[in-house]
Amino acid sequence: MSHTKLTALRRQIDADTLPLGVFNDPDLFALEQERIFARSWCFLGHASEIPEPGDFVVRYIAQDGFIVVRDDDNTIRVLLNACRHRGRQLCRAERGRTSTFVCPYHGWVYRRDGALHAAPHADDLFGAGRFDVSTRGLVSAPQVAVWRDWIFACLDPAAPALQDYLGDAVWYLDFYTNKTPGGLAVHGSPQRWVIEADWKLGADNFIGDGYHTAVTHGSTVRAGILPAQTGDFLLDGVQVVMDHFGVGMARQDPLFNSLAYPPPMIESLRAALSDDQQAMLDRGVSLPTHATLFPNLSFLNAPGAHAPDQPPAPYLTLRTWRPLGPGRTEVWSWLLIERDAPDAFRAASHRAYTLSFGPSGTLEQDDAENWSTISSAARGTFGRQLALDYAMGQNHLEPIADWPGPGAAYPLDYTEFAQRAFWRRWIDMLEQAV
Ligand code: FES
Ligand code: FE
Repeated sequence: MSHTKLTALRRQIDADTLPLGVFNDPDLFALEQERIFARSWCFLGHASEIPEPGDFVVRYIAQDGFIVVRDDDNTIRVLLNACRHRGRQLCRAERGRTSTFVCPYHGWVYRRDGALHAAPHADDLFGAGRFDVSTRGLVSAPQVAVWRDWIFACLDPAAPALQDYLGDAVWYLDFYTNKTPGGLAVHGSPQRWVIEADWKLGADNFIGDGYHTAVTHGSTVRAGILPAQTGDFLLDGVQVVMDHFGVGMARQDPLFNSLAYPPPMIESLRAALSDDQQAMLDRGVSLPTHATLFPNLSFLNAPGAHAPDQPPAPYLTLRTWRPLGPGRTEVWSWLLIERDAPDAFRAASHRAYTLSFGPSGTLEQDDAENWSTISSAARGTFGRQLALDYAMGQNHLEPIADWPGPGAAYPLDYTEFAQRAFWRRWIDMLEQAV
């Protein structure tokens, strides 16, 4: 990618615009792999998916596949899913439990911690005692860290520690993770599906696009699936912006917001919150609803319909937007439910998620259709130059002066401060050559 092209992008982003072509650009896709995904902390899964030694799942950071495995001493390892002999994909199952990983090509055998155990005929073929297994183990991701059971890895050994990377975002992430003492567990397995849309569209939408909800998802209300008063429930919310994280809250609504958890769960959450965090709820906003942690981990804690004549039930989904190519993304979506939640709530939350943001969910399909038409238009020679408008809110909104939490908080969720911050972070990282 030419320096001139990056400079032009920087100039446009500084002017709160963006060329449509960024959503389908092979040069940018290549540079994003190198300068964003190889340098950022990326979410791989949840420790509840691999509860016992030998449990593993296969996960990805952009194009790199990793075996995420719990070893014999309960350490979670993140091992490149490529044999040290010829690089053959070692583990073909998506998940399972195993004592060893055996390469299907020539049969090298690896232990659960990634160490090479043996190779067929090693003494005969390399010379007796000359085959050093200690130098032929699987390659680990350079940094691995687990925060409240959330498993992250980073391919840059020089990157700051995960706790520093998360930084003040933890103040808001507490609301997602701390509802009960038992903590969260993944319900079932994560679902994944491919959309013909650029990964940045999902990240950009979840970080700050409250604006689309009433229109894009309006049919859900018109069809009677969700109550009518919810159409613009984010309009009166709050949007909080940091350079690596953005989060939106809705206004509190007795029927339709993420506070619709069973009362004991809300009491338990409040008991775990700091005074400042409780003060945020006392301002009439919901729990943090939608968010993105740069680059591609998004959150949604929202209520959804689950049964006729029943109030909506909240669900929490974490999702990653895995780039497969320019304008092509694999969506990974985890449903998380508190381990000690009542069974009736678990069933309602699961159903509410499935009907709204599972791969066949109505709201999911609403969003994916928007994003795929954008990525398609971004291929056009003429259309890719279209300057998109990212100016919302900046001429009349000031941060809330006495907001109790970190970041700049704006008194409206239909605004684009968080999206502008996302794109500034994106161009900052693309410009960093080393
Ligand atoms: Fe794995 Fe040869 S490629 S044993
Ligand atoms: Fe949406």
